[in-house]
Amino acid sequence: TLARIGVTGLAVMGANLARNLARHGHVVAVHNRSGSRTRALIEEHGHEGAFVACETPEEFVAALERPRRVLVMVKAGAPTDAVIERFAPLLEPGDMLVDGGNAHFLDTRRREAALRERGVHFVGCGVSGGEEGALLGPSIMPGGSAESYAALGPLLEDIAAKVDGVPCCTHIGPDGAGHFVKMVHNGIEYADMQLIAEAYDLLRQGLGMSPAELAGVFAEWNRGELSSYLIEITAEVLRQVDAATGRPFVDVVADRAEQKGTGRWTVQIALDLGVPVSGIAEAVFARSVSGDAGLREAARGLPGPPAPVAGPAGEGFVEDVRRALYASKIVAYAQGFDQIRAGSAEYGWAVDPGALATIWRGGCIIRAVFLDRIREAYAAAEQPATLLVAPYFAEALALAQRSWRRVVAAAAELGVPAPGFSSALAYYDALRAERLPAALIQGQRDFFGAHTYRRVDREGVFHTLWSGDRTEVEG
Ligand code: 6PG
Repeated sequence: TLARIGVTGLAVMGANLARNLARHGHVVAVHNRSGSRTRALIEEHGHEGAFVACETPEEFVAALERPRRVLVMVKAGAPTDAVIERFAPLLEPGDMLVDGGNAHFLDTRRREAALRERGVHFVGCGVSGGEEGALLGPSIMPGGSAESYAALGPLLEDIAAKVDGVPCCTHIGPDGAGHFVKMVHNGIEYADMQLIAEAYDLLRQGLGMSPAELAGVFAEWNRGELSSYLIEITAEVLRQVDAATGRPFVDVVADRAEQKGTGRWTVQIALDLGVPVSGIAEAVFARSVSGDAGLREAARGLPGPPAPVAGPAGEGFVEDVRRALYASKIVAYAQGFDQIRAGSAEYGWAVDPGALATIWRGGCIIRAVFLDRIREAYAAAEQPATLLVAPYFAEALALAQRSWRRVVAAAAELGVPAPGFSSALAYYDALRAERLPAALIQGQRDFFGAHTYRRVDREGVFHTLWSGDRTEVEG
């Protein structure tokens, strides 16, 4: 029998997706550039389902039913282009080439346009959930043509995570839409991780709590409105003890956060779109700061605050940090969803934010109870201009704000960096402000460059003759 789908690229993600498909009863052709991986997969997991092991791309393509579905699971960038070049000539109009890697959506747009000329559907497909998700049920974000989704969707929905029986997979929109939303997913992931790390740091330094005690705090938080995969694994990581030294695991890990690039792309694109994703940006910058050993070494001797007169107080501070974390998280997600709406408008994708929140409820790294609240906010008759003003979130922020302010103030007093918490609060305060000092900036611009300004009381563009008699003229 011919295979329903083929997977090429059998590193862990590819192998696990192939196994997931096979376990769901689909015949899966598998191929890898070096045959050893293919053989290892069949040897170790061949009994899990019906695999067709293929040595060459030609053999692989011949093993597939038509129209062919080819899932490419190789590294983003040049390796993806190399695979496309190798396989595209073997495909026929109507066939589908699915890129399940973390590709840049602009690369996806370019590849989609090139393959469309040959009649081949190129599907940039976000896949989240790490290795375990790939095997047991990821969140899947396919872009590309609606026609390709009709042929691929049922298979992908079959292997995706399910929440309340609803698959965590939906057609996101044309060409690069799937990879775009996956990019922003990762940006949000960075922001969420940074906020959790700040909460940990504040409680550890502010209250002197141990990692083991903090594991308990996060486990407790995971039972409430913060309940999420990232909070859950934070408790696990904090509970871990290093076997070699007997010290908390978190104390033996080098404090330099690495990054493969999706968070950075999110911020780069947000700058181009003019969307202030300050939470994601602070998270990317915080990783960069942590990784700059030379800079940190040079600055280590700079003075911090004198020992605080009265440190933050026990239980109350734990609850304050929990609320500050929740409020900051709402801001980070609101900004990420704003970027998705802006990207969707810019590229004409018509991404449905509610549908996206729905498929992020399970399978992916940012899966959380919270995503259901976002889904509800976008299900309202009138779409909120920002999630911050959707009734549920507006109320949550109002409830959290006193704690939030106390925590940001405490961070400054303690000398504990909390860029995520404080920038989120600044964003909140900026949005709700009656007047912003942007008026002064306009004045400065007009002063040094005659850049002109608008007035609050009259239509038109104006300029003040700063180096003359300082009267106002029409700009
Ligand atoms: C996912 C993750 C994954 C990403 C890792 C590592 O959704 O399953 O986002 O795609 O590769 O999170 O990212 P960094 O190395 O950039 O931290």
